[in-house]
Amino acid sequence: MDLKKIEKAAEIIRNAKYAVAFTGAGISVDSGIPAFRDENGIWNSHHPIYLEIDFFKKKPLQSWLKIKEIFYDNIDEAEPNIAHKVLAKMEKRSFIESIITQNIDNLHQKAGSKYVYELHGNYKRLICMECSSEYDISFANLDFLPPTCYVCKGILKPNIVFFNEPIPQFAKTRSFAEAKKADVMLIIGTNAEVLPAADLPVIAKEHGAKIIEINIKESHLTESTSDVFLKGKATDVLKIIGKYLYL
Ligand code: APR
Repeated sequence: MDLKKIEKAAEIIRNAKYAVAFTGAGISVDSGIPAFRDENGIWNSHHPIYLEIDFFKKKPLQSWLKIKEIFYDNIDEAEPNIAHKVLAKMEKRSFIESIITQNIDNLHQKAGSKYVYELHGNYKRLICMECSSEYDISFANLDFLPPTCYVCKGILKPNIVFFNEPIPQFAKTRSFAEAKKADVMLIIGTNAEVLPAADLPVIAKEHGAKIIEINIKESHLTESTSDVFLKGKATDVLKIIGKYLYL
């Protein structure tokens, strides 16, 4: 890891007026949650069709069996890692204003971050496909699938954004507003391939933000958009940034 570049990035963050973090699956890899498109990524071992909304409507049980295996059986015991914790401390010390995340694992909130905009929802919430009643996951017994609504007996769906489903309006509006306002955006652990999330770094850049990218390998943003590319694991790089910011 290039300590000089990390020190430069910490300086940029320290002098920022409105820094925002944009995170993807890579930040949670060291909490034991596999990313999606790495060599041992989720989409290499499971077909994404199970998270496609029309497939879910037609075959809810088949979808739920796979969703439980992919997400619920391993996210539940995951704990925030040092990267999540440093971002939470950075928010407390006003080094960052908010986190826009593509992750559904709730680890930013578990680490203490308050202003978290979840573009793809959160696995801890369920929503009824019939009456839109919402539940915390603790209300469902996932030994009996698919879970059903207490109000109307409709089928409950994880309140995460499935393929061919729209992004939640509140998260979308807030995230795009944050990207336009940011004078620094930290992009951590994402391929930035899935729209509309992938537009956010470009929008931040177009509005004058300095882009600091943290990833174990270059993404398509590195050449085109990033001002500082910090090659390394999110946990290793953010631990050092935390030291430079005296967190
Ligand atoms: N530290 C930093 N970056 C990492 C680490 C790590 N320890 N491990 C992996 N990465 C990087 C990978 O190099 C890759 O660029 O994290 C990125 C993970 O990319 P994806 O698996 O595509 O995850 P993400 O970009 O978050 O996917 C976006 O796609 O399937 C949908 O809804 C899903 O939210 C997800 C969206």
